[in-house]
Amino acid sequence: MGVWWIVVVALLAHTASAAVREYHWEVEYKFGFPDCKEGMVMAVNGQFPGPTIHALAGDTIVVHLTNKLATEGLVIHWHGIRQLGSPWADGAAGVTQCAITPGETFTYKFTVDKPGTHFYHGHYGMQRSAGLYGSLIIDAAKGKREPLRYDGEFNLLLSDWWHESVLSQELGLSAKPMRWIGEAQSILINGRGQFNCSLAAQFSNATAQFSNTSLPMCKFKKGDQCAPQRLHVEPNKTYRIRLASTTGLASLNFAVQGHKLVVVEADGSYITPFATSDVDIYSGESYSVLLTTDQDPSQNYWISVGVRGRKPKTPPALTVLHYVTAPSSQPPSSPPPETPRWNDFDRSRNFSKRIFSAMGSPPPPRKFKKRLILLNTQNMIDGATKWALNNVSLVVPATPYLGSVKYKLRRGFDRKSPPTTFPMDYDIMNPPRNRNTTKGNGIYVFPFNVTVDVILQNANGLDANASEIHPWHLHGHDFWVLGYGEGKFRPEIDEKTYNLKNPPLRNTVALYPYGWTALRFVTDNPGVWFFHCHIEPHLHMGMGVVFAEGLNRIGKVPDEALGCGLTKQFLMNRNNP
Ligand code: C2O
Ligand code: CU
Repeated sequence: MGVWWIVVVALLAHTASAAVREYHWEVEYKFGFPDCKEGMVMAVNGQFPGPTIHALAGDTIVVHLTNKLATEGLVIHWHGIRQLGSPWADGAAGVTQCAITPGETFTYKFTVDKPGTHFYHGHYGMQRSAGLYGSLIIDAAKGKREPLRYDGEFNLLLSDWWHESVLSQELGLSAKPMRWIGEAQSILINGRGQFNCSLAAQFSNATAQFSNTSLPMCKFKKGDQCAPQRLHVEPNKTYRIRLASTTGLASLNFAVQGHKLVVVEADGSYITPFATSDVDIYSGESYSVLLTTDQDPSQNYWISVGVRGRKPKTPPALTVLHYVTAPSSQPPSSPPPETPRWNDFDRSRNFSKRIFSAMGSPPPPRKFKKRLILLNTQNMIDGATKWALNNVSLVVPATPYLGSVKYKLRRGFDRKSPPTTFPMDYDIMNPPRNRNTTKGNGIYVFPFNVTVDVILQNANGLDANASEIHPWHLHGHDFWVLGYGEGKFRPEIDEKTYNLKNPPLRNTVALYPYGWTALRFVTDNPGVWFFHCHIEPHLHMGMGVVFAEGLNRIGKVPDEALGCGLTKQFLMNRNNP
């Protein structure tokens, strides 16, 4: 009797407690057809995009990652996961770990603490652009309910695709003069796009910029890797569509013909639901939208993903919302929705400003303790084009910061912090008077548990009348987005406009041309965290900074994370004295 009781308790404890989900992954290149044209993609266990991880809040994820690439290092970053207590598992090369060398295996282990739509991707060189990404979806823990009702769900991972190899792109970006990568050839939905042919070819002027009549109609054979996945729906039901953007460059706009979308989640936090005809999504962001199938059930409808924010030279990605009550091969009866004008930045800002946290989510502290104002500029160093923050362009050192701070290796990086602001007479409306900048690897160090404000300040690039959108992403945290403004940030005045009541919690936020964006977070997660523009070539050109916090509270870091640079020697001496 006593024994049975123990068994029952053990079973109950087991079902109630969280699971450990363990994966063995091998990464290598393979030939694929992301947009119907053959090219080299990075694959996980032979799959592109990589396998989707599905987990429940509270679970522990263990990924044994083996580098099967012949000549390149490798890491994977779990974008949107805060890595509470496991900063070494964040997967940012040079920041939290050494790149995994060919042939070696590294084990990531971390818990996923709350529901949300996330993804993972390569974070070494430009391996994300090479196709190293996949979805990471966390559902509510057993017995807990999400504050959402829906009958079915779809998951759309959005990306952009170039025909030029990523190594060649990297070489061009660091060349003197720089060779820009240009706009993507295709937009991909779950790794599938159509180059040089269009699903909508039978419609004239399918979108304003792209007369699809000039493109031949796509023909797919069974099993084609580039054939779009259609979304099969039943009438009068509500579906959750998860969207995440891992683009290298493109800012995207998602729309479903004839259907309203209700946005309910952003970057893994619930927001106050709002209805919209289309969703802007920047690289590094994720959303969930609810779609109700309340349109004519005898028809099919276009789903379109077009480019915004840069002059589009890439045709929109298309797929079909297929009502099971409509003939399956029948094309939608009118052309796809038009992507809003690329440079209608008012429209973009207005979309961002409609996002508020859900009722009951934690409000930010009222006051900040430390403030950084980061001026985003495009500059030159010895004939190469760079991006800089407060006149420093980041070059990540050979020894990962996490190892340098954990073992107090003074020579691991420059101990002098970069500037916390910029000269207030800087003219953000014109190209920099001094085109030259410097490179550096200093970091911002914060005490544990203080409130930090970061003001991102945009400016004119090197060419006149050009200021770009930069989606900024923070590792290790969600931050509150306190506000956006145009022109130069004025501390005393603009602070008064902050939303301290219901600002959204996010991990990625857009900085609009010639404007500023203010965000706030609490340094409650001991570790070293990357904060950078999520545009792959911009990061490659130095557009990032590094935050360190709670340094004497960092727990054990596995030696395997630190087998390079100064930490390698340090660990050898320590382990074999
Ligand atoms: Cu999704 Cu540091 O990036
Ligand atoms: Cu950028």
